Amino acid sequence: MGPDGLQENDVYLRTAVSVDSSGWAHYDYVKMPDYRWGIFLTPPEKDRTIGFGDNANMAAWDKVPGEFRSDLRRIIVTQADTEPASVEQQRLLGHSCPSLYDLRNLLQVNVEEGRHLWAMVHLLHEYFGKDGRDEAEEMLVRRSGNPDTPRILAAFNKPIDDWLSFFCFTMFTDRDGKFQLGALAESGFDPLARATRFMLTEEAHHLFVGDTGIQRVLQRTCQLMNEIPDGDVTQRGGIPLQVVQKYINFWYSASMDLFGGEDSSNAANYFGAGLKGRFGEQKDKKISDHLALDGYYELEWMDNGHMSNHQIPMRRAMNLVLRDSYKEDCEKAVRRWNKVVAKMGVDFELTLPSQRFNREIGVYMNQPFSPSGEMLSAEDYQSKVSNWLPTEEDRAYVISLMVQVREPGKFAGWIAPPAKGIQGNPLDFPYVKFDHNN
Ligand SMILES: [Fe+2]
Ligand SMILES: [Fe+2]
Repeated sequence: MGPDGLQENDVYLRTAVSVDSSGWAHYDYVKMPDYRWGIFLTPPEKDRTIGFGDNANMAAWDKVPGEFRSDLRRIIVTQADTEPASVEQQRLLGHSCPSLYDLRNLLQVNVEEGRHLWAMVHLLHEYFGKDGRDEAEEMLVRRSGNPDTPRILAAFNKPIDDWLSFFCFTMFTDRDGKFQLGALAESGFDPLARATRFMLTEEAHHLFVGDTGIQRVLQRTCQLMNEIPDGDVTQRGGIPLQVVQKYINFWYSASMDLFGGEDSSNAANYFGAGLKGRFGEQKDKKISDHLALDGYYELEWMDNGHMSNHQIPMRRAMNLVLRDSYKEDCEKAVRRWNKVVAKMGVDFELTLPSQRFNREIGVYMNQPFSPSGEMLSAEDYQSKVSNWLPTEEDRAYVISLMVQVREPGKFAGWIAPPAKGIQGNPLDFPYVKFDHNN
């Protein structure tokens, strides 16, 4: 289920050979089947204690505590299942790569997600006995988008047929991964904390691919807008800014769902037990109360026909707290993109939709909110939704632009080249080698 048709090619990949700073990023040509599926844990911290919840200040666990066994297994399985899912979603994208540079980045993301699966399955095999091994087998049976045996989370079953979707996925959905892994890196179950800490170092590149990918699309579109007097970039094979905005709306809202319900007893249990913390629980100076037994998160949602204010006890609001950290991170990227657009003299501002828009999970599920968060009638919503989410025509147009470019240094016409190459190499470096036969 890995990248289709690219098993024989030499790919300029980063491989981790050890966790220390000299070994975790080794660059060379590798055929993907020879990529090293190592299990890397950051070194153990001496006398590490649990940093939050009811077991705060007690020694971190080296083994699975019996009372939390099923919760912990569920947390690990849910995270592990996303890793192969994204590789399955992206397996045909190589056939339409906009450049060798982009192809190499796709394959880098794919091999690392494969290794993350390996590392999570290792936890199941090593610490959970027979039921852990059974869960690992199930992971091999599920397939992204399969109607009978889908992956666990919805965003990981949505098709990724084009590179704009891929960039949105790595920007928004992989970024959910950053925050989930960050919360698990705080876990009182030490092997999980050490495994996820190392994964986070690799995730940073995935987010870079998405963030800069979207930025390069915007740059190219703005350049075309400046060159074409009437501004219709589709005449020259560009992606209109409104279409980019719709893709952002789609993937951001789908990724919001990955955080789970806003008011969640599971979230409260995981926090209370010390299994899953907040992002930066130990390091962030703003987080001083590691018990979170006091206080409420106030949120408005629809109740008996009108919006009313609700108070969610803090522990039950942990999904929401994590999602807010995620939102802040996304907002920073949008501000950077808008600067790029403005600098190119184009009058357009990208935005993130409201947390209420297009939700399939939680208190705003299946309700007709606009991207600005305004409640509409169902008819009004239906008449406007084609302005907010990609239509069949939008998707068909974007897909029509996807043609494989594999001449070193050349880029497809809908995307600008990146600012620089990988690891100090030039843009026309052969990041993936094709022989004459394939
Ligand atoms: Fe991952
Ligand atoms: Fe990732």
